[in-house]
Amino acid sequence: MTESGPSHDPQPPAVSDAELRETFRRAADLAADHIIEMRSRPVFQPMSGEERRGILSMPFPEEGLSPAAILDAIAEHILPRPFGNGHPRFFGWANSPPAPVGVAAEMLAAAMDPSCAGGDHAAIYLEHAAVRWLLEMVGMDEPGAFGLLTSGGSMANLTGLAAARHQATRADGVDVRRDGLTGAPRYVAYASTQVHSSLQKAMELLGLGRDALRLVDTDGAFRVDTAALREAIRRDRAAGHRPFCVVASAGTVNTGAIDDMGALLEISREQGLWLHVDGAIGAAGALDERLHDRLGPLARVDSLAFDPHKCLSVPVECGAVLVRDGELLRDAFSLVPPYLRTTPGTGIGGPPWFSEYGFQQTRGFRALKLWAALSHMGRKGAAALIRNQHDRAAELAAMVDEAPPLERMAPVELSIVCFRYRPDGAGDAELDSLNRRIVDELQSAGRVFVTGAELDGRFAIRAATLHYGTTAEDLRVLVDEVVAEGRRAANRGAP
Ligand SMILES: Cc1ncc(COP(=O)(O)O)c(C=O)c1O
Repeated sequence: MTESGPSHDPQPPAVSDAELRETFRRAADLAADHIIEMRSRPVFQPMSGEERRGILSMPFPEEGLSPAAILDAIAEHILPRPFGNGHPRFFGWANSPPAPVGVAAEMLAAAMDPSCAGGDHAAIYLEHAAVRWLLEMVGMDEPGAFGLLTSGGSMANLTGLAAARHQATRADGVDVRRDGLTGAPRYVAYASTQVHSSLQKAMELLGLGRDALRLVDTDGAFRVDTAALREAIRRDRAAGHRPFCVVASAGTVNTGAIDDMGALLEISREQGLWLHVDGAIGAAGALDERLHDRLGPLARVDSLAFDPHKCLSVPVECGAVLVRDGELLRDAFSLVPPYLRTTPGTGIGGPPWFSEYGFQQTRGFRALKLWAALSHMGRKGAAALIRNQHDRAAELAAMVDEAPPLERMAPVELSIVCFRYRPDGAGDAELDSLNRRIVDELQSAGRVFVTGAELDGRFAIRAATLHYGTTAEDLRVLVDEVVAEGRRAANRGAP
């Protein structure tokens, strides 16, 4: 085929060479415009009823559309209604903007479209290399350690807990993979009340039950109370249960609190428990040397969920699970049916397959965007990115502290600031509903985007400073908008 196209009309999904180039160039231009023009648009705008219906009722076309028509439809109906996380005034949840080079890599990964289940092809070695960079970031790069990329933190947490369960059942002579948990002791794990819901889901999926994740109280800084943890373990042992795992949070979803990792390591070792860390939000914080004391112990934990699509600006989806004992992880998951057996070192065999270390068989080429984003930053740039997120949060916290109607509701350890609008004389219940309304109104108005959190039963406005382009002026706009909306909402009174 030539630039001018083949002599016959290619049938979809094939396109002529010329159309292919034109399609890719236009897609690249659309992507570039989308990112470059981001600031001039609202952070977020809810879809109108007509827009929703327009998309939901699209018929499956009888005759295929041209790639140009498809890109027109994307430009008109899809690109203008984003989630919002690309915007520097998006402070919602834990969604960073995509690193531009990661976006380009995503397209190239799709063009190659390998399965990263395993094999002797470049994508596999790139995943090993990119995972090694993550292991190095937290100091887990010891012989025997293994990691693999996942859809995100939830899957990384599930995988880490599966490894923990496997270690415990194996030690107890329970063949959980063959027999399930029939006749097994009651396995219990521990985390703080601030732990992310994905850990509870993981306990459910692993057949352990959500209640077997004991939620231990926290101190005033939302870090797990280690004395209460010890007591919970003691109580469970006395009741004949089988403690098997401690889950620490390196960056809780609500406030970014970092549990006392050193103390949790000590307790886990002393009690013979697996230490899994949910570092979806905070593992990359290890790049900030100011947090060395808090996050240094990550180097010695048993498993760690690390989410490059949260703090490292890798386009979603890109999570990672890192496990100290790679062979144990393989033992927990490996199941290679005859049709998938290969000979190491021959044909497409290659190194042990990633699919033996996790649940997924066909796996996407996530490593390319991770590797591309990290390569562009370099170690220094990645550290600067993370430090900047922490600095912005500290700056925002200071602005909140200096704006009297605002009240800060938690210490700031990483990149999350929780606060509320608090006019004189209002009680907690009234403040909850007032601040919820502020969040809802701000989301719809599109100048800044914040979300909420519940802290000790009280509603907080929550802002995460993960965008590399957020300026001090953006933070000022955020504070001013909250105060202005707070005044309006308070004047309107309860709905
Ligand atoms: C602390 C924490 N852990 C785990 C997760 C789940 O990660 P993901 O959404 O990537 O599955 C989140 C998501 O916000 C989180 O904040």
